[in-house]
Amino acid sequence: MANNIKYFIGNWKMFGVPKSIKILNKVNNFVRLDKKNSRNYKVVITPPFTILEAFSRYYKKKSITIGAQNCYHKDNFGSYTGAISPYMIKVSGAKYVIIGHSDNRADGDTDKILREKISFALNNNLKIIYCIGENKIEKAKKKTFSVLKKQLLRVLTKKSNSNNTIVAYEPIWSIGTGKTPTSNDLEKTVAFIKRIFKNSKVLYGGSVDGSSVINFKSLDDLDGFLIGGASKSSKKFIDIIKNYYR
Ligand code: PGA
Repeated sequence: MANNIKYFIGNWKMFGVPKSIKILNKVNNFVRLDKKNSRNYKVVITPPFTILEAFSRYYKKKSITIGAQNCYHKDNFGSYTGAISPYMIKVSGAKYVIIGHSDNRADGDTDKILREKISFALNNNLKIIYCIGENKIEKAKKKTFSVLKKQLLRVLTKKSNSNNTIVAYEPIWSIGTGKTPTSNDLEKTVAFIKRIFKNSKVLYGGSVDGSSVINFKSLDDLDGFLIGGASKSSKKFIDIIKNYYR
């Protein structure tokens, strides 16, 4: 059922040069030959801007899909040194864009900026991977749900819907730390997000690897994973998919 498609999205962050295509070729071949399960999932990789166009073109008709890690909050062309607009991303051939990653929020992306990014990205028919998540202090103070609610309601636009936007729940305390939520907590959080943003797909991100993924296999309502560190190695990334379906 198309609705039950799971996503394995790799966020390369500041990693990747042209020869890194070797890593992706291994992932692409795995997906292509995974006759048993590949119709049930989709793999998206987000390399850096420097190789976005080349990789998007190369994988256009292959088994994996390419996305961007971020975009600027203005569209088309303009006098913004170093910036890449949603239009430029679309023309590069990328299909997805991550917006709201905690790295970028920490660098100054406000709700207003994120809303603009989403709006322009949707105008360019890019699919949004919208990241939300609480930090350690907010978690300790039991503010997780109120933080997530604000991040959803203040940023998603009228045009945002479950066809054009995937939510990635990435608690900041779990990113790159080896710590993950319990499956019970994650189940509740996914249900909460789906109550606020109706019918949305919700991914989990934060220290996902071949072993932590096993803890989340039983969560039917979880629609997949956003994977940082482990997506830089074809073996680690493939192990996540293998262990999920084992
Ligand atoms: P991690 O990163 O898998 O390395 O924890 C996840 C992310 O930042 O998207």
